[in-house]
Amino acid sequence: MEMEKEHRSSHPRLVLVPLPFQGHINPMLQLGSILHSKGFSITVLHTAFNSPIPSNYPEFVFVSIPDNLSEQLISANDLLPFISLLNLNCGVLFQECLAKMVQKQEVENEPSIACIIYDECMYFCDAVAKYVKLPSIVLRTTSASTYLSRNAILQLKAEGVLTSQVSTSQDLVPGLHPLRLKDLPVSKIGTPEIFLQFITNIYKTRTSSAIIWNTNDVLEQPSLREIQKQCQVGIFPVGPLHEVAPASSSSLIKEDNSCITWLEKQKQNTVLYVSLGSLASVDKKELGEMAWGLANSKQPFLWVIRPGSVDDQEWKKLLTEGFVEAVGENGCIVKWAPQKEVLAHGAVGGFWTHCGWNSTLESISEGVPMICKPCFGDQRVNARHASQVWRIGIQLENMCERGEVERAIKRLMVDKEGKEMRQRAKNLKERIQLDIREGGSSYNSLNELIELIMSF
Ligand code: UDX
Repeated sequence: MEMEKEHRSSHPRLVLVPLPFQGHINPMLQLGSILHSKGFSITVLHTAFNSPIPSNYPEFVFVSIPDNLSEQLISANDLLPFISLLNLNCGVLFQECLAKMVQKQEVENEPSIACIIYDECMYFCDAVAKYVKLPSIVLRTTSASTYLSRNAILQLKAEGVLTSQVSTSQDLVPGLHPLRLKDLPVSKIGTPEIFLQFITNIYKTRTSSAIIWNTNDVLEQPSLREIQKQCQVGIFPVGPLHEVAPASSSSLIKEDNSCITWLEKQKQNTVLYVSLGSLASVDKKELGEMAWGLANSKQPFLWVIRPGSVDDQEWKKLLTEGFVEAVGENGCIVKWAPQKEVLAHGAVGGFWTHCGWNSTLESISEGVPMICKPCFGDQRVNARHASQVWRIGIQLENMCERGEVERAIKRLMVDKEGKEMRQRAKNLKERIQLDIREGGSSYNSLNELIELIMSF
């Protein structure tokens, strides 16, 4: 116990700044847990909007900063303008708060702050760190291939190859096999200018000392090599963070654990888990097609329908006409699930996912093959990799149609093709486990990262 304390006090404090969305809070807090387990003290500087729940991490210090975001902007769900405004609004207040922390540490002889680790979308932190004379490190929470494909968008726009915001072209993106133009992580939301500005902002080389990446060599070695050639600072692929981190939840929504009791009653590898993450939504028609595709497949399913994820408040009424009778005990619907526990459950044999990077990593880490139905942004890149590179997923290419859904479910859950995907997913899971253990590349990257932080 004494030794543990001694070890801790010799390590400095790290200040973490997450982007206030579930898919970004999770990896940042997981990174914090990992670094805390290595002896660092952790302070999380966060916005009032979507504040993390401090009681889930009693070992961290949480400091909330007003973000001055209007209710209107928050409820508009318009991601890019939101991020842009967040960066404009937060700088001064975060800077004041950090300056006070630095002062306090000098006066009260507290562990010194070694550096600021910030989400790539909170790019204002670079200037703040510079102002308070602290080193900074960027955390990238999307895949390495997403980084390369976003860079490709800038180039293709400049060359005039990509003219509209969302392409439907099947043509391959030069140098990024097997990505097609239609897989590029462009945005339907906001104007093209806002989108290009967003990419430029998150990828602009500033003064940060390193980049931490929630990925690893097993999944993305060629992309990581390419990026390291282009980057002037060291990159540290230490993922999947949720696998390395001690288990804890950073859910903003209360998890409904009753689904685990339901899973207990199901046979091995039979359940399709369905979730579209924390941001994506579907319209009434898509909901109906998903529901009837699931019901007609006769496969047991656990479906997360998040509050606000259907564009019709009355969605429950849409699922009553015959659907409940058709499904009976074969389906379980919850508002929010303990996803990592669900994916680790032996009954779960497949994951219908929007392919957010966290969900993709969590599925792969449990050896669960996927039905990939990307909704926006990086999800298209991840879906393409799942289906074509790792060959552990079936991509639904078109609008959801119940016949197509039913066929995809049968291919994944019943057919030989699905069994082969499950086997490949299990192999990938084993390779990832090796990679995060002593001697693995992710393990080594983490040690190198800690050495770098200790050298500041
Ligand atoms: C967003 C973007 O949409 C995504 O493309 C990007 O890669 C990260 O930021 P999100 O859409 O929420 O994230 O998806 P994802 O990255 O998969 O993150 C969702 C997180 O919520 C996962 O960690 C998942 O475990 C968790 N989750 C989801 C739950 O805990 N319970 C649920 O019921 C659903």
